[in-house]
Amino acid sequence: MRYADLHRRSIDDPEGFWLEQAQAIDWIEAPKRALFDERAPIYEWFSDARLNACWNALDRHVDGGRADQTALIYDSPVTHTRQSYTYRELRDRVAQLAGALKARGVGKGARVVIYMPMIPQAAEAMLACARLGAVHSVVFGGFAARELATRIDDARPKAIIAASCGIEPGRVVHYKPLLDGAIEQAAHKPEFCVIYQREQEVAQLTPGRDLDWHECQFGVEPADCEPVEGNHPLYILYTSGTTGQPKGVIRATAGYLVALAWTMKNHYNVNPGEVFWTASDVGWVVGHSYIVYAPLLHGATTIVFEGKPVGTPDAGTFWRIIQEYGVVSFFTAPTAFRAIKREDPAGEFVERYDTSSLRALYLAGERADPDTVIWAQEKLKVPVIDHWWQTETGWPICGNPQGYEPLPVRIGSPSVPMPGYDVRVLDEGGNPVAPGQLGAIAIRLPLPPGTLPNLWQAEDRFVKSYLATFPGHYETGDAGYIDDDGYVYIMARTDDVINVAGHRLSTGAMEEVLAGHPDVGECAVIGVADALKGQLPLGLLCLNKGVTRDHAEVVREAVTLVREKIGPVAAFKLAVVVDRLPKTRSGKILRATMVKIADGDTYTMPATIDDPAILDEIAAALHGIGYPAR
Ligand code: COA
Ligand code: AMP
Repeated sequence: MRYADLHRRSIDDPEGFWLEQAQAIDWIEAPKRALFDERAPIYEWFSDARLNACWNALDRHVDGGRADQTALIYDSPVTHTRQSYTYRELRDRVAQLAGALKARGVGKGARVVIYMPMIPQAAEAMLACARLGAVHSVVFGGFAARELATRIDDARPKAIIAASCGIEPGRVVHYKPLLDGAIEQAAHKPEFCVIYQREQEVAQLTPGRDLDWHECQFGVEPADCEPVEGNHPLYILYTSGTTGQPKGVIRATAGYLVALAWTMKNHYNVNPGEVFWTASDVGWVVGHSYIVYAPLLHGATTIVFEGKPVGTPDAGTFWRIIQEYGVVSFFTAPTAFRAIKREDPAGEFVERYDTSSLRALYLAGERADPDTVIWAQEKLKVPVIDHWWQTETGWPICGNPQGYEPLPVRIGSPSVPMPGYDVRVLDEGGNPVAPGQLGAIAIRLPLPPGTLPNLWQAEDRFVKSYLATFPGHYETGDAGYIDDDGYVYIMARTDDVINVAGHRLSTGAMEEVLAGHPDVGECAVIGVADALKGQLPLGLLCLNKGVTRDHAEVVREAVTLVREKIGPVAAFKLAVVVDRLPKTRSGKILRATMVKIADGDTYTMPATIDDPAILDEIAAALHGIGYPAR
């Protein structure tokens, strides 16, 4: 019961608990207070302190005896590259890049958008911003120019740091034309761009705006760490909401570092000097927290992996990396394991490698289905730890504290709330439900340090999106239940957000794009079950009156349109033309009912349906494209 007591204490005495955890961090001015609740329900942590995130991630380890330890390993099966950087090398590279940015006027509070693939330079760019107190905003490479433009207009960056290209199996992703297109579309223009030229594709630089990564660093003075206040934003990370306008999640510096520091040993069971590997992307929150900041903060070695679980070159890549670098804790999304399991069901590749360094596998980003968890447990012979979190929280809401007190794993549950998270299940009226009963999952305010204090320049939206439905609580947008022993189960989203291959996507954003097709009068996008990716988006299109074109052609155009406007990451490949959409009498589209039809689940006829016959039409149309698939 040690962990239960610790959790209790974190809820009963947040001030004492978090001030104690704050000792893991180097401060320029130590915090006198933890929680700042004067503006409740807007909360801040450690606002009276001063520190620097880059110092904590790099310099202090260089000074503290880890200068020659490997900080970062770059392993890229797609370019056949392996490189490693010591803490000293990484600190020097980051200080030099920061110097180049500083020389061009990037200082505390300036925003810098980063659009890069999984290369060490992406982490360097993030840390260089942190060094200057500049606020980075990393945009995932799988997003198209329009999505990048939306983020540029919201963050209004002084500079953009990008690479010339990314490499996806079988194709080169031309980042530079995407960047140029985004800057052209955006109303806000950055003062300059820094372009890292990769040898796979050297991009054309725009004179007067684009600087070469190496050239701009030549002869500049390396920059020192700029002290920032505890509540200073370290980064803005955009995530899908219910509309096409993404939400700019703010991450305040001090609380984030304090919370991450707690998790490294207590949750992920990693000691300084050991190798921790997260196979994700720096464009996602998981990458921010557990590829870049947390492992470095902890003096561990992190791995930047540019590849896929399968096909780069085979389903043994993960095991090769674990063996080669002696990974002790490994974190990825369940979809990656589903991909491996599909290709190597018997686990023959696992047997070819020595994975004995591994203590546990951590899965998050989407629901970990029992088949995948059991397969991973059997093949790797280590505990498989499902844990639940969101871009908004920055670190796990629920997990299993492997380094503090490993709790029994219950398959299907990401275990129990982490420190500071007072997780509740509520009914529609905001009343707590009994154990085992399904409801909306909410967290009693204040949220712990590290979680979002606000949305970037959108406080009203922050309050409306998260704090209004259940006063005194943060609404997670997930539904589920808590069992008699306090284990939490995450069952579904309560909004129009879907989860495709561990990537969070907005069906509303896809609908906005589809509605822009000249022949589409009305549309709905739903998330249907998929054996590999968990969910896939499926579009139902009603064409304008008088449109007599071939439906297959319209569907092809619709698919292309979403890829062009949102990006390949949307994985939008399924659409069907229907005559009408099922609605309630008040005109609300019955998306959830259509999901049930597509998934082959039983459903009850919604009492408010306008015309029940439409559901048969939808079922027939879905049947025509192979749904239900099982
Ligand atoms: N830049 C450009 N394009 C990208 C990209 C990037 N960084 N990442 C993905 N894409 C593209 C893919 O090439 C694919 O394009 P395609 O339609 O031309 O094939 C498309 O976006 C969809 O990508 P994805 O859904 O990831 O599918 P995939 O077929 O490439 O790979 C998996 C499937 C399961 C191997 C892969 O999704 C995976 O490894 N997922 C891990 C999930 C993860 O790390 N989640 C982060 C949260 S922890
Ligand atoms: P993101 O903000 O991209 O990290 O996505 C967060 C969402 O992913 C959550 O709100 C959940 O819907 C889902 N999610 C993340 N981790 C889990 C998990 N372990 N189990 C179930 N769903 C999860």
